[in-house]
Amino acid sequence: MNIKSPKIKTHFGFEQIDSDLKSKKVREVFDSVVEGYDLMNDLMSFGIHRIWKRIAVEMSEIRPNSYILDLAGGTGDMVRLMVPKISKEGLVILSDINENMLVSGRDKLIDSGVTNFNSAQIDAQLLPFKKDTFDLISIAFGLRNVTDKKKTLRSILQCLKPGGRLIVLEFSKPTNEIIREFYDLYSFEIIPKLGEIVLSSEESYRYLAESIRMHPNQDELKELFEECGFEECNYENLTNGVVAIHTGDKPKKL
Ligand SMILES: C[S@@+](CC[C@H](N)C(=O)[O-])C[C@H]1O[C@@H](n2cnc3c(N)ncnc32)[C@H](O)[C@@H]1O
Repeated sequence: MNIKSPKIKTHFGFEQIDSDLKSKKVREVFDSVVEGYDLMNDLMSFGIHRIWKRIAVEMSEIRPNSYILDLAGGTGDMVRLMVPKISKEGLVILSDINENMLVSGRDKLIDSGVTNFNSAQIDAQLLPFKKDTFDLISIAFGLRNVTDKKKTLRSILQCLKPGGRLIVLEFSKPTNEIIREFYDLYSFEIIPKLGEIVLSSEESYRYLAESIRMHPNQDELKELFEECGFEECNYENLTNGVVAIHTGDKPKKL
């Protein structure tokens, strides 16, 4: 008898889909926006994403000899800020699952004179590194897009050195009710239209707004960190919680 097990479902924005389809759909989103991705970030956030990223990197406590992996690194903004903080003894890897985003990030960094980094096409859910490799793993605006967040967090935990840190910069939930309403209106009414005007990609930016709403809020994500084995888990809200920076450490003794 051929018994088919039911397909595991996940969300893609507000849509429920088979979980094995999500990474393909996410890839299509980023393939469609790669050309104007940086411009859209500046327009949508009025340039504030640069400050959020700067704060996240400052909170990372990078030392000159740190081994750092930036996951879902896209066009390389985090890596650009990290590289000047390390010496020849350190290592920074720009990584992303999407070849087009990765190549765009790598080329942009090299063209602007940033060369002291490596790059690798990697799925954040299944890291191809030895246990206890990195002092710091970062993921900015990427965790929202992975199919399985727990799998991702556990894979990150494995590859961090004992005492190493994970830092996640991600959209979250504004704490003030009025700001939340205004932000909802802005995300659902303005951002997709902007995506259409700038990149002819209304759908991709509607996915952005929807995926933000489906992402765990600050306390839920902190709990997820703890459930996956991180300790010293904390978060800091920026811009009233429009984004939050989550940190968690790998226990010194596992
Ligand atoms: C919104 S962009 C963020 C890029 C960059 N970190 C930034 O802050 O500008 C999200 C990135 O996540 C990548 N991504 C999606 N799923 C991924 C996965 N499973 N593993 C690694 N990267 C992934 C996408 O290809 C995309 O480049």
